[in-house]
Amino acid sequence: MSKPLVSIIMGSSNDWEIMSQAAQQLKDFDVAYDARVISAHRSPDLLFDYIKEASAQGVQCFIAGAGGAAHLAGVIAGKTTLPVFGVPIPSKYLKGMDSLLSIVQMPKGIPVATFAIGEAGAANAGLFAIAMLALNDAPLAQRLAEYRKQQAAKVAETVLPLLV
Ligand code: RP5
Repeated sequence: MSKPLVSIIMGSSNDWEIMSQAAQQLKDFDVAYDARVISAHRSPDLLFDYIKEASAQGVQCFIAGAGGAAHLAGVIAGKTTLPVFGVPIPSKYLKGMDSLLSIVQMPKGIPVATFAIGEAGAANAGLFAIAMLALNDAPLAQRLAEYRKQQAAKVAETVLPLLV
């Protein structure tokens, strides 16, 4: 097994249904990743230890998914200078607007790149990590370009039925 280049952290095992979309993108592009449930407020000591350990082992970026008062991505960003991508998890009462605003409104100086609420955001965070790694990996860049071509071809092939 190669060492993980991307670390996916989520605040609860309930977030995996969404965050597995990020993992799936990485898997599809053969990018080694590590996925864990670690909470910024339920297990802060474990989070700090893990960030240190993952960074020392060669992780290049973190994808953090959390819902509600979603401070996970911001706390990670406060402990590392590696890029942090935040994914707002849909929440029960506020449908993820709380998560989105918590993640996107980072005060100046400690950035978190924030993605869309839910599955699309998780998948795009995975693709963004791939794009970042592709800057120094020509074969990976080639595969990413191919993936984009496939999407364009699908749009071009789409035929809508005519209404009569
Ligand atoms: C956050 O609180 C998690 O990221 C999750 O989205 C939310 C609710 O957690 P659970 O009560 O479902 O474990 O920490």
